[in-house]
Amino acid sequence: MVGNQSPSRRPPADLIHAYDAAADGWDAGPGPMYAPLARTLVAAAPVPLTGRVVLDLGAGTGVAGRAALAAGAHRVVGADLSEAMLHRHALKDRAFEDRAAGCPVAADAVALPFRDGCFDLALAAFCLNHLIRLADGLAELRRVAGAIAASTFAAGWTHPAKEAVDEAARSFGYHPPSWYTALAPGERAADPELLASCAAAAGFTRVQTRTMAVPTPVATPAALAAWRLGMAHYAPFLQTLDAPARIAVRRAAEQAVAASGAAGPLTVEMTVLTARRAAHPD
Ligand SMILES: C[S@@+](CC[C@H](N)C(=O)[O-])C[C@H]1O[C@@H](n2cnc3c(N)ncnc32)[C@H](O)[C@@H]1O
Repeated sequence: MVGNQSPSRRPPADLIHAYDAAADGWDAGPGPMYAPLARTLVAAAPVPLTGRVVLDLGAGTGVAGRAALAAGAHRVVGADLSEAMLHRHALKDRAFEDRAAGCPVAADAVALPFRDGCFDLALAAFCLNHLIRLADGLAELRRVAGAIAASTFAAGWTHPAKEAVDEAARSFGYHPPSWYTALAPGERAADPELLASCAAAAGFTRVQTRTMAVPTPVATPAALAAWRLGMAHYAPFLQTLDAPARIAVRRAAEQAVAASGAAGPLTVEMTVLTARRAAHPD
């Protein structure tokens, strides 16, 4: 990990461990939900993507960066706390060898190892909601990027599959980890007014927030259960189970989703923050 910050400002070690544990299953589990959300975020960017140098903050396995490259970005650099997520990211960037998918960097959003103003655009797909101090993250993005597009789940948005899978997993001994309950109900960066005021306080201008409904291809009980069980807060628990127990949890989760009536196309309500630095040309 590069970049330095005082111990009190460091992200929780169990959060990093959880994303490391989730990395191998990310693309098959939550991935199908996050991909259309990333494309929608890129489409909402406040500057055209063509020829741009883009930071993908909280890159995970790189879905937003790949959407930026597909939209014409010249170069994308991913940054994330989790080296295991970035390892999956690096493997898949070979698809874009004709353009420069920069080497991803393990770094904390509030202490980025980049020069001032070196990115045209920073994407932050579902990353800012993890920060203990949202203002610090936005100030750091303001330092390194001319514009931002950041997404969170809309305040209050939920889906019945969440509760159904949670209950099924609890019956096998699952308890939500403290880093996750500290995020829940996930409102830290979900309140559009708070997001906008923090962005303005960080020195951004033309600050806008929009909340939109994004359809995803996730629909069957199996896909909805895989989405939930692939999330980082379940990963360390699932790793403690042997293979037959993991299969039993998955079956119970699928049955719980089917019984709850939650099956059917998943539409996510997402809030997008866009903003620019005052001096940025377009
Ligand atoms: C919900 S995942 C989203 C991943 C990816 N952007 C996507 O849309 O699929 C959140 C990501 O943010 C990363 N993250 C959380 N806190 C972070 C921080 N302080 N600095 C950098 N990355 C962070 C996690 O490791 C994880 O990969």
